[in-house]
Order: sequence, then C-alpha cells, then structure tokens
Amino acid sequence: MKIGSDEHKQRFCHEFIATHCRFDPAALEWPDLDAAELGRLRAIPFWQEVLYTERRAGAIVAAYAATIADPLVREAVTLQGFEEARHAELLRLMIRHYGIIAEERLPETLSGDLFRAFADFGYGECLDAFLGFGVFKIARRAGFLPEAMFDIFETLIHEETRHIVFFINWMAWQQVTRGRGAPWLRGATAAHYYAKAVGRLLGTVWRGRSANDGKDFSATQASVFLDGFTFRGFVEECRAEHARRMAGFDPDLLQPHFLPKLAGVALAGLRLGTRAGAAREKSA
Ligand SMILES: [Fe+2]
Ligand SMILES: [Fe+2]
Repeated sequence: MKIGSDEHKQRFCHEFIATHCRFDPAALEWPDLDAAELGRLRAIPFWQEVLYTERRAGAIVAAYAATIADPLVREAVTLQGFEEARHAELLRLMIRHYGIIAEERLPETLSGDLFRAFADFGYGECLDAFLGFGVFKIARRAGFLPEAMFDIFETLIHEETRHIVFFINWMAWQQVTRGRGAPWLRGATAAHYYAKAVGRLLGTVWRGRSANDGKDFSATQASVFLDGFTFRGFVEECRAEHARRMAGFDPDLLQPHFLPKLAGVALAGLRLGTRAGAAREKSA
C-alpha cells in the first residue's frame, strides 16, 4: 500500500470508523472513593485545563470537519469531533460527581486557517498522548485511584490513541496529495509542529503553576505516585506504553514515531552519562 494513495485513505478512515466505540457517558458508573482517594482526585490541579482542552478539541475538529470535501475523510474527522465532545462530557460528569473544583471556560472562537488549527491540535495530541501514556501507567501501578476509575479513563486513552494514529496517517496522506510527501520534508514539518506543541505545553504548565501558586498537588498527594520517580524511568515508561498500545493497530498504517525515537535518543544519552559518571567515580 502506497502512503498517500487512495487505498491508504480508505484504510485509515475505515479503520478509524470501524473501531468507534458506542457508549453514553451519562450511563457510566462512577466508583465510590474513600476519603483519601477523593482527596487525591480533587487535588489533581489540571482538571479545569483538561476539560477546557477537550471542549476546545471538539470545537476545532468539528469546525475543520465541516470544511473537508472528501466524504470519507469528513465522516472520520466528524466522528473524532464527536468523540472529543464526549470526552468533555465525561469529564464534566466526573467533576460534578466528585465535587471537584474546576471552572468551565468557553473555548476561544475559531478564526483563520482551520487546516493549520487541526494540524497543530493533532501534533499536540501526539505529544500529550505520549506523556499521558506514562503518567497513566505510573498512576495505575501506584494505585493512585481504584481500578474501576482507571477502567473509565482507559476508554478515553484508547480513543486518544486511535486519534493520533488517524492523525499521523491523515497528515501523511495530505502531504503526499499536496506534493509535500518527501520523507525529509515530512520529518521537517513534524519537527516544526512538535516544537510548537512543546512550547504550548510548557506555557500551559507554567500558567497552571502560577495559577496554583505552587500549592498544587501537595507533597502528600503526589508522593503516592512520585515515590521512586526518576526522569529516566518516566521516559522509559512513556516509550514502553507507546509501543504496547501501538501494537494493537493495523501494522500497514503509519504510527507516530517521532517522539518514541527522540525518547530513545534521550535515554541512550542518559545511559551514556550514567556510565561516564560511574567510570569517573571508579577512577577517582
Ligand atoms: Fe479527547
Ligand atoms: Fe483526541
């Protein structure tokens, strides 16, 4: 199958549409939490930001979908918009159910280039998902919340994984059809968009930090899953989880590989640094 071909388009759109899962967030059964678990859930400082991000995602994806001429691609992107809006609804219900303090902000009105907005959003999702995979795995292993809660979030994370696989294929298909499909050009475009996504993420973290004035996620709450935390361990977890989740997708389709490769290089560098440090200590 040639990337960018009509066959490619059929495959990535049909795969996405066929794996859509029907569920109603209002019918979900939220588990009972004990006082400590409830405290931990409420102490997570970013629920407001996550709700805003999902609402904004739904708005961007739906607005872009309405501009797509190809009926199959439009159907798939419209479905993604529906799933994003459903994520927002699920979070809204969870916030209400557990009495979490999070104000709902309206997403900004969309103007300008919707293609670019969708592409920016897509690369941002690839970055958020890559990091989210690691956070989710570590929090689940630490028993930060009961398993039933992670089962609910698992549905959401699986949908995000489908979104990024769809997005990477859509992007490559777009680039080939626009005559910009050379591998070096696709790599350069990805690097450009990822750099912007990292910038936005750092901005969000910074804003969140100043909004919470350092009080966020007090040491006691965070210690449950920060015990034994190392940057290297975190990156390894993100990479392993990314590979595990991607194994469930059609191997003929493209998968996001930029961040796992970058993480691989970073890990090799860290290992080298550790070895050099150990050798220096030995000789001293
Ligand atoms: Fe989402
Ligand atoms: Fe998504």
